[in-house]
Order: sequence, then structure tokens, then C-alpha cells
Amino acid sequence: MKYQEFYNKSIQYPEQFWSEQAKQLDWFDTPNNILSKDKYNYDQWFEDGKLNLSYLCIDKHINDGYGNQNAVIYDSPVTNVKQHITFNQLHHEVSKLAGGLQSLGLQKGDTCIIYMPMIPQALYAMLACARIGVIHSVVFGGFAPHELAIRIDDCKPKAIITASNGIEIERIIPYKPFVDQAIDKAKNKPEHVIVFDRELGVEIPKKNYDVDYATLVEKSPSIEAISIESTHPSYILYTSGTTGTPKGIIRDTGGYATALKFSMKYIYGLDEGDVFWAASDVGWVVGHSYIVYGPLLNRNTTILFEGKPIRTPDASTFWRVISEHQVKVMFTAPTAIRAIKKEDPDGELLKQFDLSCLKYQFLAGERCDVATLNWTEEKLNVPVIDHWWQTESGWPMIANMVGVALQDVKPGSASFPVCGYDIQILNEEGEEVEDSVEGYVAVKLPLPPGTLSNLWGNPERFKSGYLDRFPGYYFSGDGGYKDEDGYVFITGRVDDIINVAGHRLSTAEMEEIVASHESVAECAVFGVHCDIKGQKPLGLVVLKFGEASEENQIQKEIVQDVRHEIGAVASFRDVLIVNRLPKTRSGKILRKLLRNIADEQQYNIPSTIDDVKIIDEIKIVYQTHKIGIHK
Ligand code: COA
Ligand code: AMP
Repeated sequence: MKYQEFYNKSIQYPEQFWSEQAKQLDWFDTPNNILSKDKYNYDQWFEDGKLNLSYLCIDKHINDGYGNQNAVIYDSPVTNVKQHITFNQLHHEVSKLAGGLQSLGLQKGDTCIIYMPMIPQALYAMLACARIGVIHSVVFGGFAPHELAIRIDDCKPKAIITASNGIEIERIIPYKPFVDQAIDKAKNKPEHVIVFDRELGVEIPKKNYDVDYATLVEKSPSIEAISIESTHPSYILYTSGTTGTPKGIIRDTGGYATALKFSMKYIYGLDEGDVFWAASDVGWVVGHSYIVYGPLLNRNTTILFEGKPIRTPDASTFWRVISEHQVKVMFTAPTAIRAIKKEDPDGELLKQFDLSCLKYQFLAGERCDVATLNWTEEKLNVPVIDHWWQTESGWPMIANMVGVALQDVKPGSASFPVCGYDIQILNEEGEEVEDSVEGYVAVKLPLPPGTLSNLWGNPERFKSGYLDRFPGYYFSGDGGYKDEDGYVFITGRVDDIINVAGHRLSTAEMEEIVASHESVAECAVFGVHCDIKGQKPLGLVVLKFGEASEENQIQKEIVQDVRHEIGAVASFRDVLIVNRLPKTRSGKILRKLLRNIADEQQYNIPSTIDDVKIIDEIKIVYQTHKIGIHK
């Protein structure tokens, strides 16, 4: 089948195309109304269909005779545990936990936060919620209690499911105490906190709302998956926006299942029964779609990896996992490859393993630099596929659809639009630009199934953030261009969002925290180049009069404030004290200019700049502190 023909069909006849794809699922009620409008006049898919994600990920495969196939392989170099979990075992764990949640009073439509490390119980919790229509919201473990509290207040969970602790390199992450602190800070108190004790000797502080996970599962009955409307939210996943308040992306059920099933075959080129590994975390969208729901829907064995690309124990871990578990397709972020490459530039460690099982290596989460792409291709000797998507889309928007036909890879490009995504590059006025001209990356509506259906509790922000900028289009927030062959190149965000080690973070949020330090008169936070993480945040700070003698102490406090409020994941370590910041005459701080100078990118000094001499001052500060490209 040719890509272009298949793609054109999806754009010209979306209803026909996706109703055909929806037939790949076992619906409880097959949908007849394929594409319609919701109460906000936004597109929704399969409105009258009913199904259950947990049923499709587990029960269906058991009914089809695959109960003894491995559903999950948990590989944890940080605890030296490896565990194979069959679909039958997954059924046992999930259906009993769902029974437990029900016995605590959780019902369809309630929300539940999951704040857990990469352990099987995190997957059980997600699938147990899905089984009874409870809307889960997984919060990444690298976020601090303050961020967790913001999410608690936004989605008002009836329960939180957590674990005694997580394990980072040489460090225990106290999940349960973090949850207690977050609940203290939050206005909305959950009724229950279900705690899984990892039995690693970590002390678990006790509270009245605590429920022991193991006891709950032990005493609860197994329950069946309930029938759920296609448009019912399966989850809320918070992501950074351009303000300090994160956005709760809502994902539907039926559209999501259809899209994921489609993507496993046509994007990732997998057959049922194959082993697939997305080396991410369940706290991110990659984890939702490609550690949990996508592979399990497609009856693939999914790898749940609790470790890092390096130092757990070394830079050979990824290759060991691929070889040992016979991974056919793997997905990671370029930053992970850069970290491995730094430790093992010649790929000596890789040579110790038989990687003949690996067919494709996928990369996403940030721009893939050509050096990383070339190194990976050379060392793995398989096609390396960069693909582009977002928390909002839930599944890839631009990719080389290897399951349709592998196209030539063009370094720097994520290749072509995926079926269903009518990707256009627009100028300021919303007009389509010519080939090779850079513009705003937008997608003509309707979006295909599986993408965001709204923002939790904030339909106005949904409209203003994504739909109003270019009427008739979804605006991605990224810039890019198409070349004369139709390959799309993503050049980066056009807003205040930065991408640090494949993690999406808001500099506006960091700036709010830095500005609130009592000694800070004004500040700017922006992303600068980092060889390993792609970008890292940098704060430039002007102190209030008379604070100069305390500079070191103030820098330390500011770093600590950001870590305390957002979490370690922000990787905020650099604060420079400057005498003044470059501004326009109307007082607007020139952040883009500051970033471009640091990265030695071409820049134009705006004619409206207040005082041009400041540029030289800033350059000297960067050089002295080895910032950005000056490292
Ligand atoms: N729970 C708690 N803390 C976490 C965490 C988690 N799940 N994940 C990361 N952190 C902490 C880290 O321990 C680190 O803390 P530190 O400042 O005390 O050292 C901090 O957050 C920053 O973490 P990270 O950005 O991951 O940096 P690192 O130096 O620990 O590791 C890499 C660098 C490149 C190895 C790592 O970022 C990596 O594996 N990246 C791949 C990311 C990825 O797969 N993203 C998926 C998106 S598709
Ligand atoms: P997230 O929502 O955390 O998945 O982050 C999405 C953002 O990451 C996108 O808007 C892009 O800016 C960036 N991104 C993800 N994948 C790619 C890619 N393959 N190439 C370039 N940027 C990417």
C-alpha cells in the first residue's frame, strides 16, 4: 500500500477511514455516529459507541486464547528485579484493584490521581480506573508536592494511588510523604490515599486517609469491565502551558483506542504478539500511549523499565534490555541517546549484545539533532525514525509510517503527516506559506480520533489556546516548514515552553517563582542549549538595591525555590546576577535576544531596544560563566 494514497483517503474521507479503523476494536456497542459536534461545537468521534479500554487491553486477549502471553515485562535495574506478567495475571491484579476502588466508593466519572514510580502497580492502577470509568490523572514523580497540589485542586480526585517510594540514581524519592505534603497544601482533600508498600525498608508516615494497597486488593472481589461511552474521558494529563498553571488535557475513550490500535500497526510496524519498548515514564503521554494502552490494546508485550539510559548500572542497559527481552521496536528520546553516546562514544558496550531482534528505533519528545540520528543509525544498523507529537495529540502527528511503507529518512525531519493529520504551515495571517518557508505548524480541523477533547474545567482556555489563533485549525505551538518533497521539519516552540531532556516545562512558571524571591527586583528565565538535555533553563536576575553582598546565598535560594516548587525535573541550576536586562523602550524584556546570544544564533537587535550597550555586558557574563554554547 502506498503512503500517499492511504493518507489522502484519511483526509478526504475521514469518517469512512476511521469507521473502518474502529472495526479493529471489540466495541460493546458499535458506533454509527462517526463524527459529530460536542456541546462546545468541537469535533468528537464515535459518539454512540461503547467500549472499555481495560477490557480491550486484557480480557479480550484472554478470551482470544492468549492469557499466558506476557503482557508486561517489568525490568528494574535499580532494584535488580525482573518480572514477567501474563495477561491472566494482569487480569487478576487489575480486576481486583478495580473491585477495591469500587468498594471505596469510586464510581464512573470520579477522578483519581496516580503518583507512582515505574512499577507494575502504576499500570494496574491506570487499568483498574479505566475498568470502572474512573478518570485517572497520572502525575510524574519528578514533580514536587506543590505541583501535585495544583493538580489535586484542579481535578479534585476522590482518591490518590501512590507508593512508599521511588528510586532515582543513589536517591530514594519519598512518594508518600510528598503526597501528604501536597494534600496539606491543597484546598480539595481526597478521601483516600491508597499506598503500595514496596517493602524496601522505607518508613511510610501514617494518616487517617491511608488505605493499604495490598490489603485492599487481597480482600476485594474481581470485577468485570463496565460499558463506557466513547466520549467519556479516560484520563486527564497535565502539561505545561505558557502560564504558571498547567493544562489538563482530556482524552476520550473510543477515539483514543481506535487511534492507538491504528498507530501500533501502521506507524510502529508491529504485529500482535511482538515485544515493544517505550523507554519513558507513565507520567508522560508517551507512557500512557506507548507503555500502557497502545501495546496492550494491540496484544504486544510491553516493557516497563525502571531505570535510566546510563548509570543503572551503565550505558549498556538499553542494549541489554533489547537483547534480553527480544524487543522488536523501541522508542526513546534523543537525549537518552546523547547521554549513552557521551559515556560510550564508539558503541563498545553495544557490541556485547545480539540486537538482531530490533527492527526499528523510534525517537521523539524533542528535536532530533543530526549527529544523534547518524550515531544511532550507524551503531544500531536499523532505520531510526524521528516522529513528532505532543501531549495534546496523544499519538504521532508526523512520522515515517513504517507499517505502511518505509520512506527515505531525511535527517532533521520527522518525515510526513500521519493519516488523519492535515498539517499546514501558516504565516501570521493564517495563510499557508510556500515550501521551505518557516511558519506556524497547524492542523486543519477535524483532528483525527484520539487527540485532546478539551481542557479539564477550562473550555475557554482550550479555545483561546488552540483554536482561536488560526480559525479552522488546531495550533500546535511549534514552528516549522515543509520542503519541496513534502518532508516536515519542526524547528521548535514559538512560545515560552522549553524542552529539557525530553520534558516539557514552562519558563513562565519558573520566572514566577524566581520573581517571588524577596531580593529579586526583576528577572528573565529562558532555555539555553545543553549538549545532553537539548535545552536547560537559565535565570538572569537583577537584585534589589543593597543585596549585592549576598549574591551566592541568593543564587542558592532561588535554585532551591524552583526545585521545591516545581521539582527536580525542572533541572534549574543556573542563576546569573546581572546589573540590568535588555528591554524595549516600552519595558518588555527581550528574552529571545538573550537566548539567541547565549546560543550564538543569528539575532537582530530590535531598533526599539532601550540601551544597546547592554548586549556587550550580557555577552561578557555568558562567557565568564560558560553559558549555552560557550560551555
Ligand atoms: N522521580 C523523581 N525525580 C526524578 C524523576 C522521577 N521519576 N525523574 C527525574 N528525576 C530527577 C532526577 O533525579 C534529577 O534530580 P537531580 O537534580 O537531583 O539530579 C532531576 O529530576 C533531573 O532529571 P533528568 O532531567 O532526568 O536528568 P538526569 O541527569 O537524572 O538524567 C538523562 C539525564 C538524559 C539520562 C535523563 O534525562 C533521561 O533518561 N532522559 C530521557 C527522558 C525521556 O525518556 N523522556 C521521555 C519523554 S518522550
Ligand atoms: P510533550 O507534550 O511533552 O510531548 O512535548 C511536545 C513538544 O515537544 C512539541 O510541541 C515539540 O515542541 C517537542 N517535540 C516532540 N517531539 C518532537 C520531534 N520529533 N521533533 C521536534 N520537536 C518535538
